[in-house]
Amino acid sequence: MNKPDLCIAKDRKKVDIDYINLDMDIKPIFQNKKYFLRTYGCQMNVHDSEEIKYYLESLGFTPTNILDESDIVVLNTCAIRENAKDKVFGYLGRCKHLKKIKKDLIIVLTGCLMQQPSEIEEISKNHGYIDIVVGTHNLNELPKLISNVKGKQNIEVYSNSDKVFENIKYRRDSKISAWINIQLGCDKFCTYCIVPYTRGRERSRRMDSILEEVASLKEQGYMEVTLLGQNVNAYGNDLGLGYDFATLLESVAKIGIPRIRFVTSHPWNFTDKMIEVIAKYPNIMPYVHLPIQSGSDAILKKMNRRYTVAEYKNLFNKIKATIPRVSITTDIIVGFPNESAKDFQDTLDIVNYCKFDGAFTFIFSPRMGTAAALMVDKITMKEKEERLHQLNELVNKYSLESNKKYVGEVVDVLITDLSDKGIDKVCGYTDTMKLVNVLGSKDLIGQIVKVKITDAKSFSLDGVVA
Ligand code: 5AD
Ligand code: SF4
Repeated sequence: MNKPDLCIAKDRKKVDIDYINLDMDIKPIFQNKKYFLRTYGCQMNVHDSEEIKYYLESLGFTPTNILDESDIVVLNTCAIRENAKDKVFGYLGRCKHLKKIKKDLIIVLTGCLMQQPSEIEEISKNHGYIDIVVGTHNLNELPKLISNVKGKQNIEVYSNSDKVFENIKYRRDSKISAWINIQLGCDKFCTYCIVPYTRGRERSRRMDSILEEVASLKEQGYMEVTLLGQNVNAYGNDLGLGYDFATLLESVAKIGIPRIRFVTSHPWNFTDKMIEVIAKYPNIMPYVHLPIQSGSDAILKKMNRRYTVAEYKNLFNKIKATIPRVSITTDIIVGFPNESAKDFQDTLDIVNYCKFDGAFTFIFSPRMGTAAALMVDKITMKEKEERLHQLNELVNKYSLESNKKYVGEVVDVLITDLSDKGIDKVCGYTDTMKLVNVLGSKDLIGQIVKVKITDAKSFSLDGVVA
């Protein structure tokens, strides 16, 4: 039994990072049994679930998407906002009910929420039917924990995070587009954000391991890789080996995989060299997700974001001027403690200035343990909701405007899936990360197709094969 501790999670004094080459022997002792896996949250969690799938399938389980059919349920949780937590606890009600009928059902919880001491207290006090809790730093212990499940709750969550596991096996969801972790954790400590606590210190994988992974994915026929990190462009800074994110990006581009993407960039770490590399290589996609969070300098300071609005604008303009056709999306939080009407107006102003291709918008949600959760806040939830609504109207207006510019153009679309907009349609993304529903057969899946855009909506485009 190991429980998390926020003080240890916050510690950044210890700097030695252990590189551990995983070599696991997993016995398929659960043959003819089924697993149900549900993932909440960001791409990092989606990719972690591909690791979880590898473990479950190596143990002999086969997948099901019907909860009632499952012999093991795994919920990979998210802690970023309160509503992510509510969804998990809501779903647990169904799992608890199923376990009353199916006594041998194994219930496993993992992900960021499990790194929170308060949630672990709640689980050990009031959710005794949960069999295993495993944290984000020791997912590799999952096969052992499941193999040894005893009917007694077992919580194995560590707060320290001085490890980088290499040779992790994944059961990837897609044969076309792959996630690759290049950097874990975050040392920025934006005052609203729980990630530095749940994902630990910022640590980079070695470049040679990443390049090997990319080369192997190319060999397997993958068309696209997305380099993942909480602070993807801080890559390498912790290693002191003389290379940074721009070096990595250029080396990945040279491997020749058709499409390269990366998320999420912090404006503070965005270098001119990165911009030049993105502009130089046609297989690095002209798309940047660049969270601004607020348009008010006072709020940015309280958020500990390390840049001013003027600096963000400068960077934004440099990216736009150097990378042809680039699209830029952002994240914005409204209702940060005591955000004034003027602060909010500043946020609307920056949206009017940047005319983002898209924006993810959120109401500030206090996370226990973070600095902002302790800030006094006089703004009512009703006010925050009204601001969010107003912001969304503006953001959607600019998304639609930017999408409309594509109508009549012929663009490259990597077709990845059947479309949910009709049985005669498939879908995929442009280089600039616009979702396109394309009239065409499933034979197009896996190909980069020239598509003529026929119509634009706020969140997607329609097109026909050119
Ligand atoms: N409340 C609201 N939004 C948050 N985000 C992160 N933490 C919080 C929080 N406590 C948003 C930020 C970040 C995105 C992934 O989630 O905008 O960029
Ligand atoms: Fe959170 Fe800020 Fe780190 Fe992003 S950079 S993960 S918002 S602390």
